[in-house]
Amino acid sequence: MEDQISRGLEGVAVAETRLSYIDGDAGELVIGGFPVEELAPNAAYEESVFLLLHDRLPDAEELDAFRADLAARRGVGGEVQQVLRQAAAEDEPAMDALRMGVAAANLGHDDGGDADPETQARRAIAVLPTIVATYWRYRQGKDPVEPREDLRHAANYLYMLTGEEPGDAAARGLETYLNSVVDHGLNASTFSARVVVSTESDLVSAATAAVGTLKGPLHGGAPGPALEMLREVHASDDPEGYVREKLDAGERLMGFGHRVYRTRDPRAAVLEAAAERFYGADGDTEFFGTVRSFEDIAVDLLAEHKPDRTLETNVEFYTAVLLDGVDVPRELFTTTFAISRVGGWMAHALEQREDNRLIRPVSRYVGDTGRSWTPAAER
Ligand code: ACO
Repeated sequence: MEDQISRGLEGVAVAETRLSYIDGDAGELVIGGFPVEELAPNAAYEESVFLLLHDRLPDAEELDAFRADLAARRGVGGEVQQVLRQAAAEDEPAMDALRMGVAAANLGHDDGGDADPETQARRAIAVLPTIVATYWRYRQGKDPVEPREDLRHAANYLYMLTGEEPGDAAARGLETYLNSVVDHGLNASTFSARVVVSTESDLVSAATAAVGTLKGPLHGGAPGPALEMLREVHASDDPEGYVREKLDAGERLMGFGHRVYRTRDPRAAVLEAAAERFYGADGDTEFFGTVRSFEDIAVDLLAEHKPDRTLETNVEFYTAVLLDGVDVPRELFTTTFAISRVGGWMAHALEQREDNRLIRPVSRYVGDTGRSWTPAAER
């Protein structure tokens, strides 16, 4: 019998998970049992990660111990700094530098592929912000800022980027973002991580593959272009003309459409509320006004453009607005997504290990058969 082809594996279930649940028709996302609207604005990022790894929230003592453990694993050695300095000197994009940094992160460190799996997971989660910030400092022609163990995960990341301790509102805004996108079912990068671990490879390799997968514009690469689009629209003052021009040219609008949601992405509302704070009384209220009216216009015109497909706002639209609001540089939007999602990648990798089966689908052969060999000189 011919194998059925499921292009893009759409709708195909290949694993059971307790980590997150998406109802794409109802527009609901549950992370570790909590609706995203409940978890994201309240949790510390470390609490979200503990929840994913242990299927419950930590008590106060456990949280302190978990935080301290992650904070102690933040450092990178001179060898890794060297890789990142070189990547910055050669103007490599941030996601490429992150991929190199993750692959190299265990040089001079003993939490690598030989360590027990949860140690590998904790190290990967702890070290990503340091890799990104170190690269960014070199890009700016500055020395890296050493991580501070007394700061929470999100605040320490902002601190390492600028050398200045962030205000509570910015740290909370970033933390809400990190919690919102920490896990999201079997998205492409998480699937990559699971495939790697299913071969009984290690978690550092899984994280490296996942970073490579997240890089593409159909997955994690959208918020940078989404912000550029919003800035252009704001400057042009003609949102409708802008959208029509893009759609007529056959281009996709960044920040809209989703493989799973047939509604507005529930994370959009969480991030919109968090972003609003930064564009409130003292911020750029005019820009935020443009963002909101652009969203309405874009959704209406996308419905006109593709009446048979619901194309609503996805997570990346307000990600762009929120991250810009808390002063994460546009070039680091996708790497900041990775800083969050590594929590989900590692939890999925550990879950895969618990009940592993090699992930090995099949392809249908459509090539020639029965060819006979001709030596090169006679072709
Ligand atoms: N703008 C314009 N048209 C679109 C958009 C968009 N944002 N999204 C989908 N379409 C159109 C496609 O052109 C396609 O039309 P066609 O059938 O005439 O070719 C139709 O809608 C269906 O699109 P698919 O690519 O089949 O939808 P899929 O579910 O595979 O794609 C995706 C989802 C990749 C996110 C898509 O909507 C897209 O490219 N969006 C823009 C990029 C983006 O925002 N990415 C971030 C996604 S969120 C995340 O990964 C965290």
